[in-house]
Amino acid sequence: MAIKQTKMKITSICCIGAGYVGGPTMAVIALKCPHIKVNVVDINELKINLWNNNNLNKIPVYEPGLKKIIKKTRNKNLFFSTDIKKAVNQSQMIFVAVNTPTKTYGEGKGMAADLTFVEKCAKTIGEYSYSDKIVVEKSTLPVRTAEKIKEILELNANPGVSFEVLSNPEFLAEGTAIKDLFKSDRVLVGSDQTESGLLAAQSLVKIYENWIPKNKILTTNVWSSELTKLASNAMLAQRISSINSLSAICEKTGADIEEVSNAIGYDKRIGKDFLKSSVGFGGSCFQKDILNLVYLSRHYGLTEVADFWHQVIKINDYQKNRFTRCIINELNGTIKSKKISVLGWAFKKDTNDSRESASIYVTDNLLNEGAEVYIYDPKVSKERIIDDLKNIWEAKKISEVDIKSKLIRLKIVDNYEDCFKKASCISILTEWDEFKKYEWKSLIPKMENQHIIIDGRNILSKNKMDKLTKKYISIGR
Ligand code: UDX
Ligand code: ADP
Repeated sequence: MAIKQTKMKITSICCIGAGYVGGPTMAVIALKCPHIKVNVVDINELKINLWNNNNLNKIPVYEPGLKKIIKKTRNKNLFFSTDIKKAVNQSQMIFVAVNTPTKTYGEGKGMAADLTFVEKCAKTIGEYSYSDKIVVEKSTLPVRTAEKIKEILELNANPGVSFEVLSNPEFLAEGTAIKDLFKSDRVLVGSDQTESGLLAAQSLVKIYENWIPKNKILTTNVWSSELTKLASNAMLAQRISSINSLSAICEKTGADIEEVSNAIGYDKRIGKDFLKSSVGFGGSCFQKDILNLVYLSRHYGLTEVADFWHQVIKINDYQKNRFTRCIINELNGTIKSKKISVLGWAFKKDTNDSRESASIYVTDNLLNEGAEVYIYDPKVSKERIIDDLKNIWEAKKISEVDIKSKLIRLKIVDNYEDCFKKASCISILTEWDEFKKYEWKSLIPKMENQHIIIDGRNILSKNKMDKLTKKYISIGR
């Protein structure tokens, strides 16, 4: 059922899903393509109201540079609404940027991507389309999802309406989304290799050509594009687990991971990026995409391949657990009733996103050991921190009584100085720049006399901190 088109002229697009991917991506398309009307729709009314809020500090995604773009484009050619039906109807091209979390039930539980939201979206698009549409997968999806989307679209299509499905994975990283979207390393467009598929791909390429150099726009078949997204994230995460595994060796041998990583990175075949040792990677993509890859490999009977990628996650879990054990060991084997502070809840700096943040797991471990935990983050809301913890407690089926006992020992503070007063240990879990600027010299004396600082991001100067504290511990140093 190919689209009967020459090259579709795109004047109106919409994006279903106003989250961390949909919001910033559409804002940049609106800015760079003033001739295109961009509708961003979501089922979450609260979120849409926040996107429409006059106070730009309230928009639901914090990204450096985003507010400025929203100010320039909102209600000019960028619109946020919950009217999905109207937006679909008005658009020639529909981007799907809904969430695809790891499945928490049924076959593939804990491994495969949950496609419920994508499937619902495809059904909606099918039902509300009264003319031919190009549907673009933006969400990270398992290989061959485009095929499933196409099936659902066709099953729900109105008479005479045809669809082309493209894969156009998003490679932006949170915290640098706007920079990444302005100057993408590459844009990837996957399509069916039919005449109609290739024409649909060209319609999307044309949009990107408004600001991305032609030689950075790659076109492939749909499955290569889908797999590239999973593979890119898996390879990036693999580098972090590799360097983190080496950090454990450094701690045993007296080598310094910062020196090792720097020296490794000088080899231009390896490169310097993504070799920063940490308490473990977080974010909505890495773990989910690798689990997806593992699931896919197992599905095709590629056991060795599955095991290889699974090890990346296992090292990441090992790193998070190693960090908690280190805190406990430094506090003489017990942290019961001791005040431990966590600086940083976001999974990385410059974002208010905390999905899969190492802070969640470390805090849970600390609470399990009876500690009193203080948390401070410059951007993540109190409600979100509580929700993150409640979600993992729910998944672990923790009793109401235990949850209550944990919540009593949890304090989320607005003022970082409260984290220091009488604390037995300060642990740094996000690399926020403001942490580097603190007056550590005057803050440390407010702590209990052991003065232990554990830096899960290696952001502070070891020389300086060694002089200021009884014990400054960092990763792999
Ligand atoms: C990632 C990919 O980078 C991006 O291309 C894709 O579109 C989505 O997934 P994101 O998760 O937003 O982006 O952030 P990223 O910068 O990749 O960081 C992921 C995690 O790895 C963070 O917790 C970060 O702190 C950690 N990290 C990153 C390290 O621990 N060390 C590093 O050297 C780099
Ligand atoms: P991502 O990081 O992939 O952008 P988010 O969770 O930040 O993920 O955003 C995904 C958005 O998609 C959410 O705001 C959610 O409400 C929205 N969404 C999910 N399913 C649908 C649907 N069927 N129709 C419209 N919006 C949806």
